[in-house]
Amino acid sequence: MGEAPHPNPSTPPKLRATGLTRVFGRGAGAVSALGPLELSMAPGEFTCVVGPSGCGKSTLLRIAAGLLRPSTGQLEIRAASPRPAAMIFQDYGIHDWKTVLANIRFGLDIQRVPRREADARARDWLARMGLTDFANAYPAALSGGMRQRVAIARALAVEPEILLMDEPFAALDAQLRTILQDELLALTQTTRTTTLFITHSLEEAIVLGDRVLVMSARPGRIIAERRPPFARPRTGDIRSATEFTTLQSELWELLRGEVRGAAAVPA
Ligand SMILES: Nc1ncnc2c1ncn2[C@@H]1O[C@H](COP(=O)(O)OP(=O)(O)O)[C@@H](O)[C@H]1O
Ligand SMILES: [Mg+2]
Repeated sequence: MGEAPHPNPSTPPKLRATGLTRVFGRGAGAVSALGPLELSMAPGEFTCVVGPSGCGKSTLLRIAAGLLRPSTGQLEIRAASPRPAAMIFQDYGIHDWKTVLANIRFGLDIQRVPRREADARARDWLARMGLTDFANAYPAALSGGMRQRVAIARALAVEPEILLMDEPFAALDAQLRTILQDELLALTQTTRTTTLFITHSLEEAIVLGDRVLVMSARPGRIIAERRPPFARPRTGDIRSATEFTTLQSELWELLRGEVRGAAAVPA
């Protein structure tokens, strides 16, 4: 496996958010959704964010993707390419009217990569995702797990400098989820793509992350950071380690108060 160097905290961050907030609406009906939030991601770092439902996780990701403006503060991305980030959503976001191959080639077509090269790169990703036999199939013929593999292949085919993932495996059953977690783990340890990964699964966060950030209830701020104590390259086998369970319980303790807070409904 191609082992890139471990993220070096002394290099300038790939992504930096300072004093980031977002308010939806105005006046009495205004909803404070996010922040103030500070975040810094080193090149090659895999950052997982967990937090209660409605705390502003998707809002953060949409700001990072340039799909939404912050109300105050800023989010800077230090990248060489004009479209440095690729985003993967929970609901796949693939086009039902395009074949699997055309879906994977989509981002490359937009970047005006020559047809022949785009085809070769798309086929390479098809193979890496075990989808070679489905190149000419339409997404409707695929299972949920396969559709999400197409979405991942499409995002990675453009070789983004930053990968933004919003609960990408949330709609999958537990077994598939484990398989795709392990695949993504192996993949990102090879590519060392700087990744911001939102999940509500603590297990997923510990398996994948160089660090796990815990967000407060809305408006979401970062209230804790933990680094899973597992050297890279690692595999899904760490799930059965004692340190894994210990960290999972510790994170759950941190999260529990916030989940309660978020669930509380005023009388
Ligand atoms: N476009 C919007 N208009 C109004 N409120 C929104 C909008 N998007 C999100 N919100 C609100 O902002 C809060 C955070 O939402 P979101 O970022 O989706 O949370 P999460 O992804 O953590 O579940 C929620 O209370 C949500 O209802
Ligand atoms: Mg969300």
